[in-house]
Amino acid sequence: MRVEEATSQTQKRYDRQAGLFDFWEAPVEALAFKRLRKRLWSEVRGERILEVGVGTGKNLPHHPEGSRSVAVDLSPRMLRRAARKAGRLGRDLDLVLADAQRLPFRDGVFDAAAATFVFCSVPDPVLGLGEVRRVVRQDGGLHLMEHVRSRTPVAGRLMDWTNPLWVRVSGANINRDTVGNVERAGFELDGVESRMFGILKLIRGKVLQTGGAAPEAVSDVAHG
Ligand SMILES: C[S@@+](CC[C@H](N)C(=O)[O-])C[C@H]1O[C@@H](n2cnc3c(N)ncnc32)[C@H](O)[C@@H]1O
Repeated sequence: MRVEEATSQTQKRYDRQAGLFDFWEAPVEALAFKRLRKRLWSEVRGERILEVGVGTGKNLPHHPEGSRSVAVDLSPRMLRRAARKAGRLGRDLDLVLADAQRLPFRDGVFDAAAATFVFCSVPDPVLGLGEVRRVVRQDGGLHLMEHVRSRTPVAGRLMDWTNPLWVRVSGANINRDTVGNVERAGFELDGVESRMFGILKLIRGKVLQTGGAAPEAVSDVAHG
């Protein structure tokens, strides 16, 4: 499947889920994710912050005080919910309908970028992460929270087998090597914390060198 087609499907899947997204995720959010979001965002530094795949805006309360954030998402319905949340929180930020694989920003304009549970569903994650690297300045940081493929052989294989179903139902791939993808996109790894038996990762990256062409995309769209 071509990236354009997969991106359009991803958009439709998240548009469809937007209304009930917070409701379905409430239990796991309360049990674990809320605390981990706070932890992830406590390390985000800078004035100009980019959040990729803002969804319904669950990270908005954690954006650094005084920062001028820009948040993008592929799904108009998700973005509308994020706008309402921003209004309720009194957050002044720019919400932009955009594809992570083709960001509408100039090179090096952000001090840092963050995303939570996004690069599991971006059809070409290396292309998307390469774009993020392009728009973050030299020495700027990348902060991700992502679920990844288990390194336990049986669990990993189970994830591979059931992945097409997960993609169809939720839009997310459960068997990605996002730590590897961060490096493939040209970031320097600056730390990885593992949670939940290694399938949840808090990933810190750094832009050591800016400019140049985005690294060749390693599309895994064909894998579902
Ligand atoms: C699982 S949700 C996570 C939302 C939010 N970050 C959170 O932690 O609750 C994934 C989000 O990524 C967005 N997304 C997926 N592919 C994208 C892309 N190529 N560009 C921008 N956003 C994308 C989806 O529309 C969706 O809102």
